[in-house]
Amino acid sequence: MSVGEDSIYREIILEHFKNPSNKGTLDPADFTYEDVNPLCGDEIRIDVRVQNDRVSEIRFSGRGCAVSQASASILTEMVEGMTLNEIKALGRGALLEEIGIPVSPARMKCAMLGLKVLKAGVYGIDHAIATVDEDYDVAGIVASASREDTQVRSPKRVSLVVAGLVPANRFTQIRGYMAEQFVTVAKAGFLEPGELMYVEVDDEPVCLINLDGELHALNDLCTHEEASLSDGTIDGDEIECPLHGGVFNIRTGEPESFPVVVAAEKYAVRIVGDEVQVSVRK
Ligand code: FES
Repeated sequence: MSVGEDSIYREIILEHFKNPSNKGTLDPADFTYEDVNPLCGDEIRIDVRVQNDRVSEIRFSGRGCAVSQASASILTEMVEGMTLNEIKALGRGALLEEIGIPVSPARMKCAMLGLKVLKAGVYGIDHAIATVDEDYDVAGIVASASREDTQVRSPKRVSLVVAGLVPANRFTQIRGYMAEQFVTVAKAGFLEPGELMYVEVDDEPVCLINLDGELHALNDLCTHEEASLSDGTIDGDEIECPLHGGVFNIRTGEPESFPVVVAAEKYAVRIVGDEVQVSVRK
């Protein structure tokens, strides 16, 4: 990319930050999802109306750096009119192409926050419809979890609000809940091979990684100093810490390269139905 092109794209990003497209909320919406980047505090909420399986209207709201907010603005322009399946297939490459400027690994999470939120909402709406079709009350998932004396997990950053899908409860939160010692953290298929995400399980920070279609979970905190592995880079079956470049083996958690000398804790992952569950208990 020439210097001239680069500065044009930077101006476009700045323009989206100052005058974002589709900024606001929708009430009612067919689905609403929100999430936060725990490291920098960027927040994005996305409201979507769906007609004939296509996004008919979309709004985003939130706060944070220019990259996260401009990227969400660009994303809303991209996906208007797309089918839900097209959104599921939307990879980070397509959004990065639209953003136009090189995004450093440190800012990648900011740039992808909107896409992550939108995809979670799309996968969530499928889940909610399936749940209603199967004649289960969505709120009942949490209620029955309580009845069985399992601990209901705080929605914290995982807060899916489904509007209009459950007649008895127009706005219903679907929350992660404990199933034995495993906690539901994502929908199966949410992470593509080579992608990783930050989740919390029983207040433990966890880096969930899709390695060639196989899911692995490591403690997110680097064993060297205070850095988040979910901000790191996957290279083969290793993950490199973003702070000093220490490397861990994703399959075993073992340290592979200085300065890390202590293994990252490895956690059990399983898929139940269409849910990814992680246990941090031994
Ligand atoms: S904090 Fe991870 S290598 Fe230093």
